[in-house]
Amino acid sequence: MKMFVNFFIIILFMSAIKIYVQTETIDCEYNKNTWAFWSKKIYYCSVKNSDIFSNKLKVKIDGSIGQHLNGFSSNDQVEGISIGGATNMTNFPSNIENVFPNLIAIGIYMVNLTHVTSEDLKPFTKLKVLYLIGNHIESIPENLFIHNQDLEVIRLDFNKIQDIDKNAFIHLKKLRTLHLFGNTCTSLGNADNRDAVLKTIKKIEQDVCNSDIKTDENSPEKEI
Ligand SMILES: *[C@@H]1O[C@H](CO)[C@@H](O)[C@H](O)[C@H]1NC(C)=O
Ligand SMILES: *[C@@H]1O[C@H](CO)[C@@H](O)[C@H](O)[C@H]1NC(C)=O
Repeated sequence: MKMFVNFFIIILFMSAIKIYVQTETIDCEYNKNTWAFWSKKIYYCSVKNSDIFSNKLKVKIDGSIGQHLNGFSSNDQVEGISIGGATNMTNFPSNIENVFPNLIAIGIYMVNLTHVTSEDLKPFTKLKVLYLIGNHIESIPENLFIHNQDLEVIRLDFNKIQDIDKNAFIHLKKLRTLHLFGNTCTSLGNADNRDAVLKTIKKIEQDVCNSDIKTDENSPEKEI
């Protein structure tokens, strides 16, 4: 009987995972162009069927269709992926790195993405440009970019960020554009050169975006 129950639990667990992760193929329109705040041209896939992400907890990308531009023949040459449009993306998509192994630029914008984890960004060790503009991201934890030491451009403008860990950006020695305008924490704007980025990082070190501290100030429990 016990064995039967265990078996049943395993089956239940497996079907839950199946519902949790859904596999989809992306349909690419390829372009070679500059991205805002990144002057070099990037060969990138602009995802046409972004609706594949709607109403799914986690999407695993198993491949791509779409015709490469003249002079390009392989996904190894793709340097960027851009996902935007009418879709609600709950979690950062997985397995992109196995479809496009050489990404230096990722743009996921205006799809109401609520959070990103360091595990999501871990495969992209060569990442230089990350756009997450116009989403619903609320916090930037300490180790979010720990695997992405080459980042030069991060755009998080127009999210709902209220918490930024003091050390979130400190280790990114190449960062020269950091956009944080239009968030719940209004103390930070957009920085477009290394000096301005260092000033922003200094402000963040002083904990200007920490919702705990703000609630603590008014919280009577603090006195106890
Ligand atoms: C994002 O969420 C807002 C509500 O907060 C909604 O109005 C908007 O349509 C959503 N965006 C997309 C792309 O569905
Ligand atoms: C996304 O979700 C919001 C509600 O949170 C809804 O209003 C909107 O229509 C959804 N968009 C799409 C494209 O499904």
